[in-house]
Amino acid sequence: MIIGSIPEDINIDKRVAITPEILKKYKSLGLEVYLTKNYATHLGILDKEYEEEGATLFENEDDVLSKSDAILQMSILNDANLKKLSSNQILIGVLNPYVNEKKLKNLKEQNINCFSLELLPRITRAQSMDILSSQANLAGYKAVVDSFAAFQKAIPMMMTAAGTISAAKVLVVGAGVAGLQAIATAKRMGAIVFATDVRMASKEQVESLGGKFLIVDGAENLETEGGYAKEASVEFKKKQEELLKETLKKIDIVICTALIPGKKAPLIIKKDMIDVMQNGSVIYDLAAIQGGNSELTKVNEIIESNGVRIMGDANILNKLPVSSSNLYAKNIFNFISNLFSKEEKKFKINLDDEIIEKTMVK
Ligand code: NAI
Repeated sequence: MIIGSIPEDINIDKRVAITPEILKKYKSLGLEVYLTKNYATHLGILDKEYEEEGATLFENEDDVLSKSDAILQMSILNDANLKKLSSNQILIGVLNPYVNEKKLKNLKEQNINCFSLELLPRITRAQSMDILSSQANLAGYKAVVDSFAAFQKAIPMMMTAAGTISAAKVLVVGAGVAGLQAIATAKRMGAIVFATDVRMASKEQVESLGGKFLIVDGAENLETEGGYAKEASVEFKKKQEELLKETLKKIDIVICTALIPGKKAPLIIKKDMIDVMQNGSVIYDLAAIQGGNSELTKVNEIIESNGVRIMGDANILNKLPVSSSNLYAKNIFNFISNLFSKEEKKFKINLDDEIIEKTMVK
């Protein structure tokens, strides 16, 4: 069986689904790997590194797309490339099934099986395949690094002969995977960190990282059975607003990560709250592409309002494409090794397996 991959549009996404290190593992599973020439040269990975591990490289994307049994990508292929697929092929990636519903339905009708990795159940067995966690973790780290770079003061407390510099105060909104990594990174660099979330389970996690958890007065635990957040009530939002508005007066850097699956990101930091922040403060909104947690966020723009700088990239992982590709490639390999039967030497779509059943686009 053959797996293949072609580069994404690197203006949008620089990440790749197969790295030379992972290629070895595919070969030991008994799979052939087809790639296009210059597959990852934009990441400093040369063709010869793939060839040394046994990949077959093609000049033309069409060869990879037509000859592979399974095609591994970051995002869904463009329309022209989707047309090149045929019956019984498999397409795996972050296919965004809510947005690409029609395209995926067409593929299903042509008997092309699509697996979308953001649909993975968050069960222990799927942890090594969990692309949402691996990518969110890096995003949380990078948001802190970038906002600290934009902040015009030092982060840790420093006592010098010339006087004392006080530690920067950071607020992390949403303490899921990205938020917890943001807290850990900010703490490591010497900041004082506060965090808030609607899920009470996150309080202990924040505190174990040395953060101070801000509890909305009288709040109930807004957590679904799957561990995700529920949308907050109007009353909760009002109380959260009051608490954060007071807190923001003394905060230097805000890292926004709050999301509700399948919905627009909750609006948490309103303009009047930004107005009370000190000059020179920075807000990094990781939720920018989902609508933003801050009212003034504009995707891929740096907004200045009342001396506060508000930032939010469409894809912050494009600033860490090598690390994020390394983790993504491992996640997708773990998914493939569950889908591929070594004994029968073929891909086996066993719908009794929760991982396969939940990720398959129906
Ligand atoms: P996410 O990316 O969907 O959301 C980020 C955070 O924002 C969440 O913690 C959420 O509670 C919070 N949030 C939503 N609305 C908010 C609001 N109005 N104010 C403040 N915070 C708000 O979540 P993520 O990071 O994907 O994690 C979700 C859950 O999944 C967590 O419980 C996590 O522990 C769990 N998880 C489980 C894994 C497993 O394999 N068992 C792996 C990774 C995560």
